[in-house]
Amino acid sequence: MQDLDELRKKIDKAVAEIKSSKNLHEMRMKFLGKSGEISALMKQMKDLPPEERPKTGKLINAIREWAEKRFDSYEKELKAIELNQKYEQEKIDVTLPGIRNKKGSYHPDTLVINELVNIFAGMGFEIFEGPEIENDYYNFTALNTPKDHPARDMQDTFYLSGDLLLRTQTSAGQIRVMENKKPPIKILSPGKVYRSDDDATHSPMFSQMEGLVVDKGITLCDLKGMLDEFARKIFGEGVKTRLRPSYFPFTEPSVEVDVSCFECGGKGCRLCKGTGWIEVLGAGMVNRRVLEGCGIDADEYTGFAFGMGIERIAMLKYGINNMKLLFDGDVKFLKQFKG
Ligand code: DAH
Repeated sequence: MQDLDELRKKIDKAVAEIKSSKNLHEMRMKFLGKSGEISALMKQMKDLPPEERPKTGKLINAIREWAEKRFDSYEKELKAIELNQKYEQEKIDVTLPGIRNKKGSYHPDTLVINELVNIFAGMGFEIFEGPEIENDYYNFTALNTPKDHPARDMQDTFYLSGDLLLRTQTSAGQIRVMENKKPPIKILSPGKVYRSDDDATHSPMFSQMEGLVVDKGITLCDLKGMLDEFARKIFGEGVKTRLRPSYFPFTEPSVEVDVSCFECGGKGCRLCKGTGWIEVLGAGMVNRRVLEGCGIDADEYTGFAFGMGIERIAMLKYGINNMKLLFDGDVKFLKQFKG
């Protein structure tokens, strides 16, 4: 009896000292587990005289029940406290302003390239991307611009070792396509080009978009019709094109293409410098020497080509007045363009 009383006190004291449900469980096992102290008492019953056993058994059972209740209710208490602590720790203040993910935006060049690709893909053009490090042959010679040709001076070239250079024009890709593909050919070739030129209106690296169509019976009229469609789509309905004679070694005849000023509708304004027209690209009928150099019969096939500066189109389209903005990478500037 005395032992039982001691045990009850012991349990009470032990429980009161416990601060976590995990420790409480360990303590429960110590007293109530299979090899716990209460079970040990039960086992000792066999040493008692038989007449004392029922009474003692009852007492031990009573203390077991009491202990179980004690542990149960204290466990509930501790778990509730612990849950609260967990909630406290995980608490978030939903009224705090969130941390916004910064979203990038497309560079105006990329927007223009994507738009051009869409327009021309709709007309059946395929995309070809040539290398930025080119051979002299593809960049010049095969484009009817041999080493002694004065037109080489039109483009200040970054020469690398041997015959290699940084391409000065995406026109180099025309040759790579025509060498590998028989007509009909209809390709669009966007990419970066390089020239040793750096001032307010020139950057040593910029982007161009080249187009090439070769098939039987292609004429300057086809070029004009396609340009009209392009001008309407990129600058807006009602925009017209006009061709002016020009010179490029790889086209004959060569033209400079103007679009009617989309700002003033052709009346004359600051954008078109009062002329009503804005120059946007160079083009022409592919010079037969270029076709022949690529093994294409120039009596059977003809073609047109065009090349435009992406930055120029972007500046016109988005009203950007300083080309350097396109190369500075200023996020405040770039953020304005959503694609
Ligand atoms: N490659 C020329 C340049 O960089 C642009 C050009 C003009 C491309 C006429 C063409 C073309 O394909 O037919 O100035």
